[in-house]
Amino acid sequence: MIKLSSRLSAVFDQVAAARNGIGPGRVLDVGSDHGLLAVSCLENEIANEAICTEIHQGPADHSKEALAEAGFEDVSNVFVTDGLDGIPLKKGDIVVIAGMGGLNIIDIVSRCMKNETPDILKDVRFVIQPQKSVNLVRKFFAENGFVFEDESVCTDRDFFYNVMRMRFTGTPYELGAYKECYGVLLPGKEAEGDPLVKSYFAHLDEVFEIRSRSDMVVRQALEERKQNEDK
Ligand SMILES: C[S@@+](CC[C@H](N)C(=O)[O-])C[C@H]1O[C@@H](n2cnc3c(N)ncnc32)[C@H](O)[C@@H]1O
Repeated sequence: MIKLSSRLSAVFDQVAAARNGIGPGRVLDVGSDHGLLAVSCLENEIANEAICTEIHQGPADHSKEALAEAGFEDVSNVFVTDGLDGIPLKKGDIVVIAGMGGLNIIDIVSRCMKNETPDILKDVRFVIQPQKSVNLVRKFFAENGFVFEDESVCTDRDFFYNVMRMRFTGTPYELGAYKECYGVLLPGKEAEGDPLVKSYFAHLDEVFEIRSRSDMVVRQALEERKQNEDK
């Protein structure tokens, strides 16, 4: 069995949770790099087929080798493409986009949405782990009609990472500054005393204090947070 880093384990856990909601299907790992997540999903029967996509040939070859070595050549495919270009989605698919910048993720999902019908999108789950621009990613998904089924936080080599599990409903909505910056579900987890979310928010408070000097959305979010604490 492949051993995943704590960041990829957190991604894997959200894929497993997404699978419970939609029955059997494929996992599509966009930017699969070494193919570890795809192998792990097949090993643990979280997916009956794995599709890996890679923008570069080298990592695509690594993914292909890892899948073949683990004995999954017949139930996997690796494509060199940008995001999901040329890969039609199917009901029951779980799309994973992990370890990439938020703007790249937004670009990939925007293009995917143009190519898919709402009917298909409603039966697909998206597991998203942005390396940066997390607030923009949350805003994008809300404004494009996705609900947050879950969001988790993990640490890996002293960095915090967020993993979001998203479901398309087709009804867009506004999050507002606070939820864009602190998340839709994480404040509830903080209120319940989740130690990891508490330390993540303490870290965010510090980062946002500096960023609020030049970023109005962050400034609004911090003000709202302080108002909530005073209540
Ligand atoms: C930092 S690695 C993360 C790999 C893996 N998803 C993870 O979370 O560990 C990002 C990978 O995404 C690939 N990538 C970046 N942009 C991409 C795009 N638009 N479409 C497909 N792959 C992309 C890169 O080549 C690289 O292998």
